[in-house]
Amino acid sequence: MTTTELTQALQWRYAVKQFDTTKTIDQTTLDSIISSLQLSPSSFGLQPWRFIVISKQELLEKLKAHSWDQPQITDCSHLVVLASQSSFDKQAIEDWVMTLSQERSKTLEELQFYKDMMYGFLEHKSPADFLSWSQHQAYLALGLLLTSTAALGVDSCPLEGIDPKAYDDVLDLKGSGFQTTVACALGYRSEQDPYMQEPKVRYSQDKLVIQHH
Ligand SMILES: Cc1cc2nc3c(=O)[nH]c(=O)nc-3n(C[C@H](O)[C@H](O)[C@H](O)COP(=O)(O)O)c2cc1C
Repeated sequence: MTTTELTQALQWRYAVKQFDTTKTIDQTTLDSIISSLQLSPSSFGLQPWRFIVISKQELLEKLKAHSWDQPQITDCSHLVVLASQSSFDKQAIEDWVMTLSQERSKTLEELQFYKDMMYGFLEHKSPADFLSWSQHQAYLALGLLLTSTAALGVDSCPLEGIDPKAYDDVLDLKGSGFQTTVACALGYRSEQDPYMQEPKVRYSQDKLVIQHH
């Protein structure tokens, strides 16, 4: 992808309000989108998240009732719900260290410093601070999801206008150790979506970017 193509894809992307209900994301494209979620970076690489990918209409109808009735929920091809680890979990750190040890052929002793750092950073956070940390990670994955879908020519609408607790009920997340943070509808824009015609509005780079040369 060239620099021009990247900028064009990001200009092309907008938060779709009206999806074309006749269009579905094909399996190869969906696999690539799911890979981009899997490849998202996270603090310490801990991946404190679960991604729930939904195309089951019955479930989408239920979720729409907890999403300010936003039509994107049921009109999209797939809805991704990004759920975050709810609270500090020793086992998550232990599992990650074990996985790193196996995948990178490192001894547990070699990884001890890294492990101590993770414990030091996370163990004593208040429940609210821990959740804030894990939710930050989900937003990183959301950012990457919006970028990769744009690169693939797939439309999206990030959705904070949802009731996360009701989502947890509908998706049976209670007791799973994960809770809904944010969602993202994916699919293809309807030619009738009036928002498609709206110019993209952003502040100038002069205002937003401070460069030190
Ligand atoms: C985290 C987040 C949550 C959002 N939630 C909603 C939402 O619930 N419903 C909606 O229609 N748009 C939602 N948006 C879309 C924003 O309004 C939109 O991204 C913003 O106005 C910039 O416009 P653009 O994305 O079309 O360039 C959300 C965007 C973000 C990043």
